Amino acid sequence: MPARLATSLETAAPPRAPEFSDAVLRLRTLLADDLDAVNGQILARMESPVQLIPDLAGHLVNAGGKRIRPMLTLATARTLDYDGDDHVKLAAAVELIHGATLLHDDVVDGSALRRGARTANVIWGNKESVLVGDYVFSRAFELMVAAGDLRVLQVLSRASGVIAEGEVLQLTTQKNVATKFDTYIDVVEAKTAALFAGAAHAGAIIAGADGDAEEALRDYGRYFGVAYQLIDDALDYAGFDGDLGKNVGDDFREGKMTLPVVYAVARARAEEKPFWRRVIAEGRQTEADFEEAVSLMKRDDAIVDTVVCARQYTERALNALGKAPDGRYADALRDLVKTSLSRIA
Ligand code: IPE
Ligand code: IPE
Ligand code: MG
Ligand code: MG
Repeated sequence: MPARLATSLETAAPPRAPEFSDAVLRLRTLLADDLDAVNGQILARMESPVQLIPDLAGHLVNAGGKRIRPMLTLATARTLDYDGDDHVKLAAAVELIHGATLLHDDVVDGSALRRGARTANVIWGNKESVLVGDYVFSRAFELMVAAGDLRVLQVLSRASGVIAEGEVLQLTTQKNVATKFDTYIDVVEAKTAALFAGAAHAGAIIAGADGDAEEALRDYGRYFGVAYQLIDDALDYAGFDGDLGKNVGDDFREGKMTLPVVYAVARARAEEKPFWRRVIAEGRQTEADFEEAVSLMKRDDAIVDTVVCARQYTERALNALGKAPDGRYADALRDLVKTSLSRIA
């Protein structure tokens, strides 16, 4: 592990991740017209005479969001010289699927902050968030049908099912301190990487990619998705609310068996095992426990090794991308995955 990362996790200064923000901005600039069209589609699809729907969905959409997944769809289509406009519909559908899963996820996780704003479940309530999430999901499917490609419909509907499976699998591992690395990766592949993969794959399919390019771009999305979630899970212990737009420590409070915890439990000394059982398995936590958990994680390199794992998936993403056609969009996708590690380093 490079010393730079180990030291920077110790510092009090918030990591600002300017490299990653720059890479997002570069891609956003390259795709500016497409993204405007995507935002137009998203807003149009949230309309409903039932006022709570545009109010609640609009709250999430207007709070921002990096639009990483729709940019994957747009950029993979553009890198294959696609010149139609169905990629816009698909990219909007992908962001709507993401938005729907966030509305549901914040209910399930009991989260109070998202994209720097109070969550819909806190403002309107759990029932409201679940039902509007369902509406947003349905609107995403209408958009996919409008794009009219059955293979894309198959890929993205499968991804939606897999996300739900991942969320359910994660629920079954919650508070289970015996959860292993492989199960954690299964959760991440399903709840996050499936949509990253589906987003990149959809752009490739709509642009008429050949088999190799299609597979390469799908795999790029998949490995990027795993790496992205790994960093996010590390940031839940080592990040800052203001940077994340989410509350640090949510995973800990919910007893989530994310990789930092899996490593920390595996490496704990015998006399520390009861601590992990109490805070995770029994969910009995005091104010000081989060700090204690982070300190044990740092001592045993649990956060640092989570980042090492993310770096390995980043390498896989870069290898996959190397098998797809080159050009300025591919360059921007390469920068995006590379710099996403700097969200923590
Ligand atoms: C949040 O995804 C959910 C995770 C996979 C960690 P993003 O970090 O892409 O969230 P937004 O869309 O930019 O808010
Ligand atoms: C992200 O779930 C993946 C989905 C929303 C399906 P998390 O619960 O790990 O992500 P955050 O921390 O709420 O963004
Ligand atoms: Mg969550
Ligand atoms: Mg969750």
